[in-house]
Amino acid sequence: MKTTGNTILIAGGTSGIGLALARRFHEAGNKVIVAGRRRHRLDEITAAHGIEGELLDITDEASIRGLFETVTAKHPDLNAVIAMAGIMEPEQVLDPGSLDIAERTIETNLLGPIRLVHTFAPFLTRQPDAAILTVTSGLAYVPLAATPTYSATKAAMHSFTESLREQLRGTSVQVIEIAPPLVRTSLMGEGTDNDNAMPLDEFTAEVMGLLESEPDAAQVLVERVKPLRYAEADGTYEKVFAMLAGR
Ligand SMILES: NC(=O)c1ccc[n+]([C@@H]2O[C@H](COP(=O)([O-])OP(=O)(O)OC[C@H]3O[C@@H](n4cnc5c(N)ncnc54)[C@H](OP(=O)(O)O)[C@@H]3O)[C@@H](O)[C@H]2O)c1
Repeated sequence: MKTTGNTILIAGGTSGIGLALARRFHEAGNKVIVAGRRRHRLDEITAAHGIEGELLDITDEASIRGLFETVTAKHPDLNAVIAMAGIMEPEQVLDPGSLDIAERTIETNLLGPIRLVHTFAPFLTRQPDAAILTVTSGLAYVPLAATPTYSATKAAMHSFTESLREQLRGTSVQVIEIAPPLVRTSLMGEGTDNDNAMPLDEFTAEVMGLLESEPDAAQVLVERVKPLRYAEADGTYEKVFAMLAGR
């Protein structure tokens, strides 16, 4: 993917990785539109950074369709969509409240991005040079036992992305999977002070560097995610799984 001259929609760009990447793409000479549920965040982002914002609830099919109509009418040159939106909440299968969390997680992290791709892909194939970026996780490759459905949605998105890339082979649309390691954001509500997590700026700088140096890469893998990404191949899966589970 080229890193300048695009018109990029980041679905789930009101905070964390999405917002940080939005700012980097904006500074690199791309037109960026961020979308999310929090109207006040969208307004703040526009005021602070001059980045356009649109409302989106990715769990709502009509909201995705509305976003598509609005963004493609305003920006007929839209050529990249990043499916960034995600939630991550701990679950315990013996706790009756956890089924709600599991269902919400699937709607947001799996059904949402799949609907988004189905809605935007036909439009993107008509652009001369386009990209769909999905966002999985190191946990797609070794699950975190405390977040079973979250990890499962990310594994499923990895699988979906592989097939999507194959189906769009021969079109103008490049399909890229970004698989972040643990990054300092508020994804689990813990704030930005988790010392074990990769600093957000470091992560987005490495991502932009990889997109520039490997424009045809299928996956964007920063160094920190590789122990998870390649655990199975390296023969360390059991060890890494147990370590993540706190054993
Ligand atoms: N941080 C990490 O360690 C890490 C690691 C691996 C993968 N990831 C992935 O990276 C992505 C971004 O997460 P983050 O860490 O940057 O967390 P974050 O700051 O909580 O960002 C999550 C984003 O998703 C949006 N979102 C959530 N539910 C939505 C919905 N129903 N409709 C539309 N937008 C929705 C949020 O916007 P609104 O609240 O405004 O709707 C927000 O912009 C997620 O897919 C996450 O799974 C993160």
